[in-house]
Amino acid sequence: MSTLKKFGMGKVFLQETILAEIQDIFVIIDKQKCKALNIKGLLTHGLSNIICGFAFGERFSHDYEEFQDVVNLIEECFTLGSHDSWITIFPLLRFVPIKSMRGNYKQFSKNFKKIFNFAKKLVENHKQNLDGSEETRDYIDEFLRQTDIDKKANKMDSTFDMDQLITSITNLFIGGTETTSTTLRWAFIFMIENPECLQKCQTEIDEYIESANISTDMIQMTDKPFLPYLQATILEIQRCANIATLGGSTMHRNLAATTLAGYNIPKDTYIAANFYSVHVDGRVFPHPDKFDPTRFLSDDLKSVQRHPAFIPFSIGKKSCPGESLANMELFLFISNFLRRYNFNVPNQSSQINSKIFYTTSLTRAPHDYQISFVNRNNDNNNNNDNFKNVPIGA
Ligand code: HEM
Repeated sequence: MSTLKKFGMGKVFLQETILAEIQDIFVIIDKQKCKALNIKGLLTHGLSNIICGFAFGERFSHDYEEFQDVVNLIEECFTLGSHDSWITIFPLLRFVPIKSMRGNYKQFSKNFKKIFNFAKKLVENHKQNLDGSEETRDYIDEFLRQTDIDKKANKMDSTFDMDQLITSITNLFIGGTETTSTTLRWAFIFMIENPECLQKCQTEIDEYIESANISTDMIQMTDKPFLPYLQATILEIQRCANIATLGGSTMHRNLAATTLAGYNIPKDTYIAANFYSVHVDGRVFPHPDKFDPTRFLSDDLKSVQRHPAFIPFSIGKKSCPGESLANMELFLFISNFLRRYNFNVPNQSSQINSKIFYTTSLTRAPHDYQISFVNRNNDNNNNNDNFKNVPIGA
């Protein structure tokens, strides 16, 4: 996974790929003409395509069935995996013929295998199409190049081989789609629950676009420093969403005995960090139940201040390798959605309550919901019956 950090996750060329996916989603949403839809599938598809762009240099349309199946399998992996699965701690349980002991291990590994096979097919195609040039097109090119260097140097302990490559791409699909998609689905919920905050974000965006005389259709990464309130809102969404409650269910094991905060931790103990407890600790984040982006702003509200206790991606050597890509995705998706749309949940407004409207599996994710989007630049939208009776965010 360290190769991911090395091979340029979050580099500027990814911006184009991300913006293309957002624009594709906008086209589909606009065709809905404000009718409510479940945004989850569209987001997961777009985010998986971003991984495809990074890994293989290609993308798949929303109608391509084989890819759609893989996207569904990824989503399912996150509902199958659960903290209560003892198998994470006692791997031998997977051989016990009692389902309650095994959890969903069998189905999970079946899904993993199918995603693995899909990645394998794409890697093989990609290998055949290698053009022999020195230029690195994507992650696979870089990986294969490194494999070649290690081979020529007779490096016996090289970790660059085909299986490793396909496994790491499969891990990217699984680790890099549902996490961001879930955070975005939380973002809509927090914006609906806090309309004054949505309004402030939209005003900040509108004023900036006007004053800077921005001509492009889409907000880009270079615009980020000029939108401090929006940035702080994204951090607050992540803090309150708390999607990786127990470290995203990734278990760690200490290779040597140690002492932590006065506790002796014997060698080989299974350890899961409780990020949830940090993000709701009132000593660090006063009134932690309150959605308040200004906690991440300086006193004059002009610059963003991150807090060391804000750790949605974990910390240290094993922290999320996709952090910079995820930060880019969150900024580009959220800023462009808020600039373009107002939104609401016409049929579920009484159910939506961020304190209870979620389920915890591998991630802490909102239940499915139907959301309508109204283009802020198109007055005709407001004639839509579906939206007439519903108060909109701003
Ligand atoms: C908002 C989005 C995301 C959040 C909150 C998040 C959070 C996390 C967390 C907490 C971990 C566990 C770290 C640990 O074990 O201590 C993790 C692992 C991981 N993440 Fe992310 N992540 C996000 C997006 C992404 C993206 C976009 C990618 C890929 C492009 C990605 C790829 C991975 C992978 C492959 C691992 C496993 C790393 C390993 O086993 O060493 N994540 N993530």
